[in-house]
Amino acid sequence: MLIEDLPGTERTSRIHAGRMPALAGADLEVPLANGQMRRYVNLDFAASTPAMEAVVETVSAFVPWYSSVHRGTGWTSQVSTRAFEAARRAVHTFVGARPTDEVIFVRNSTEALNLLAHCIPLRPDQVVLSTALEHHANMLPWRRRGRVVHLDPPESPEALLDAVRRALQDRVWPVGLVAVTGASNVTGEVFPVRELATLAHEHDALIAVDAAQLAPHRAIDMVAAGIDCLALSGHKMYAPFGAGALVAPAALMAQAEPLLAGGGAVSYVTLDDVQWAALPDRLEAGSPNVVGAVALGAAATALSRAGMAHVAAHEKRLLGYLDGQFGDIPGLRRLRLWSSGGADRLGVCTFTVEGMHHALVAAALSAEHGIGVRHGCFCAHPYITWLLGVSPEQSGAIRERLRRGEHRDIPGAVRASFGIGTTVEHLDRLLAGLRTLVERGPHLEYREDPATGDYLPADDSRELPRFDLLPPLDADLRGPGCGQF
Ligand code: ALA
Repeated sequence: MLIEDLPGTERTSRIHAGRMPALAGADLEVPLANGQMRRYVNLDFAASTPAMEAVVETVSAFVPWYSSVHRGTGWTSQVSTRAFEAARRAVHTFVGARPTDEVIFVRNSTEALNLLAHCIPLRPDQVVLSTALEHHANMLPWRRRGRVVHLDPPESPEALLDAVRRALQDRVWPVGLVAVTGASNVTGEVFPVRELATLAHEHDALIAVDAAQLAPHRAIDMVAAGIDCLALSGHKMYAPFGAGALVAPAALMAQAEPLLAGGGAVSYVTLDDVQWAALPDRLEAGSPNVVGAVALGAAATALSRAGMAHVAAHEKRLLGYLDGQFGDIPGLRRLRLWSSGGADRLGVCTFTVEGMHHALVAAALSAEHGIGVRHGCFCAHPYITWLLGVSPEQSGAIRERLRRGEHRDIPGAVRASFGIGTTVEHLDRLLAGLRTLVERGPHLEYREDPATGDYLPADDSRELPRFDLLPPLDADLRGPGCGQF
């Protein structure tokens, strides 16, 4: 057996250092609304990356061996258990965790941060210090733990560090935890995590980093950066098989009441008592997503083998190219956090088009140009409304409309985001599509779906593909839309 790209297994080294790993679907042709076919340009990596081919191959190699983990004596169970634990080791290595850190497999970063918020010991007088630009996953779980201080979106990394320093010095609300993103999923700025960790530790606080966006694009070294706790998602790391991870000091979680109670998380149960198991089992109740974990471990190893410095350099080159061209198109307004251009940013380009609804821009890019982007608020409502200057009165009106189930006129933007596998040609297709839209408007007629806020071509001849064992993908099945804004 050869399960490539997991540590501890023999390797044929299909991923060579410095080469971008191949992605599944890279040659996909998609229909335009007029029936023509175009090579698909996927610029929606910040939402979910495509799968890496090496990850799919590792999963295919592993699946025949799949069996229950941690409980079977059959040989496949033994193989599965070891593959699951090898994947845990791969994730641990990928993020440069300490020997005393534990990797807990979860579904995604949202679950990881909910789990951390559930486990982390905070005194009743301590607050969580965070920012107003976090993804909801790194915002809503903390509210359940009491008081959260949200710093305003800062205009530079230095301004962020100043604001954090001032908040940490506040003696009225002692900070127990600094919870920040590693990089904004909306505008791509990379946070100065190492400096933030130093500040947090100087004031006896811990730091948790939502690395959902950061992990697939920049090297992470928890030890060197001083990161205490970290969350990441496989579906943003070229391993969309349903697993993510929380990495945190075992000592922080060892005594926590499990979030999920059930089999696998216990060492002994009587009718009136339970003795919980040690980590990591304690926090992984139920049969785990072994295939997802194997995929995540394979992606971690494949990214490391390609070289995160090389991945970052590739993406920075592409961003430089896009930045250089983007400003030449009139009517586009780029949304950004840092006012100065020098700070590190991921391959994320978020913008509005003058006089055109964000949903219409995204629909036309798809239906007329075969380009996939995301539009809306990117699961970061406070940040996008701040970027767009939505007033409290407008915010109240939006809230009222949504309460009535109306998704019309939701503010938002369009986001193009990329990673390994993206080429200059992909960006040129985006730029050409945007130029056409700005100069001539959409070629087709669109109607707005009030239930979702989406725009749909009035005459759409695109056929949905068929998947053998699924019922037909009827057009009236729930589609994507601003309902998920
Ligand atoms: N939160 C993901 C995004 O930014 C889904 O699109």
